[in-house]
Amino acid sequence: MTIKIILAGLGVRGRHWAEVIRRSARAEVVAYADPNPAALDLAAARFGERPRFATAEEAIAAMPEANALLLANPPYGRESQIRAAVARNMPLLIEKPLALNIPEAAHLVRLAEQGSVPMMVGLNFRYLDTTLRTMELLREGGVGTALFARFTYERYRDGHRPDLNKYPLTMDQPMLWEQSIHHFDLMRYVYGQDPVLIEALTWNPPYSMYKSDANVAALITFSGGLVANYQGLWQSAWAEPNFEWRTDCTKGVIIQKDQFGALHYAQHADKSLTPVTLPPHETWITETSRLLEAFLDAVLNGTPMPCNGRDHLMSLAMVEACAISSRERRAVTIAEVLAQAK
Ligand SMILES: NC(=O)c1ccc[n+]([C@@H]2O[C@H](COP(=O)([O-])OP(=O)(O)OC[C@H]3O[C@@H](n4cnc5c(N)ncnc54)[C@H](O)[C@@H]3O)[C@@H](O)[C@H]2O)c1
Repeated sequence: MTIKIILAGLGVRGRHWAEVIRRSARAEVVAYADPNPAALDLAAARFGERPRFATAEEAIAAMPEANALLLANPPYGRESQIRAAVARNMPLLIEKPLALNIPEAAHLVRLAEQGSVPMMVGLNFRYLDTTLRTMELLREGGVGTALFARFTYERYRDGHRPDLNKYPLTMDQPMLWEQSIHHFDLMRYVYGQDPVLIEALTWNPPYSMYKSDANVAALITFSGGLVANYQGLWQSAWAEPNFEWRTDCTKGVIIQKDQFGALHYAQHADKSLTPVTLPPHETWITETSRLLEAFLDAVLNGTPMPCNGRDHLMSLAMVEACAISSRERRAVTIAEVLAQAK
């Protein structure tokens, strides 16, 4: 059986999705939805003509054969799209962040749950080989158990670049909601621990092109006692990007030096790092294809949905805790933030 997907939002990410779905043997795009005619034209030219609609709701009404909805639109005003899909019992694949505040995200999760419709959030970084191999290294035990971490992502993100989305330029806390959400989710996933307490500061350097804070520093305590020291910059002072995710464990370290590769480990007394061999990777496509196949597995087999909406609330709570902590200059518990989800 082929899953027939309405693809809503045909910007940068929607086009990744169109390519990924084109390569899948079990899925196809049956309609495009986007209010911008230029985005529809570009998708049709690159990926083939399909029925076109200005909104996902119109596409759902007009396409009875469609049986899944993929939202790759900005994370605003997704309720009516989700309602329309739930009314038709269509599984949902939705780009991160699900929404830009906890009460709204929790409401959207409940809508899907009440309709018994599976909802996956697009956390493709979980499916990178770097992530999967790091988890294997931790399971194999050579470096022991993870104790503490330093996660550094430093980038000068030129938000005016034609190939990047524009809404982060004016949104509140763009680094946290758009980028750190991936990093926080990765830490939860790889360490298998839930966040408990966050102390954070966000700021905007004087040269920033973003209206709200583009830089974040956070100390995160997890349920198993692991402490992560996080720095995420969208407005670094240097145009050259820098990435390093280092996990100190009971018997050694794991160090990833590139967002999509360069994974290493060392045992306590080793003089140098040992590189981990990783298979070839097509950026944004390889890991997103794995995410899609995981979605299709769950839909077709009726098995639990990975990266589901309810799980995503915990990563969103980390984002919100950072924003509150910075604003109020205090440590914030995740329990306090999740109380907003009730
Ligand atoms: N998982 C990832 O690695 C990744 C990477 C990039 C973006 N994203 C996410 O994907 C989403 C879209 O980001 P983007 O970079 O493609 O943005 P974008 O601005 O490039 O594209 C968004 C598209 O959605 C369209 N749109 C706006 N409102 C719509 C609506 N109501 N219905 C249908 N289409 C609508 C816009 O016209 C535009 O064509 C965001 O949630 C973003 O965080 C995820």
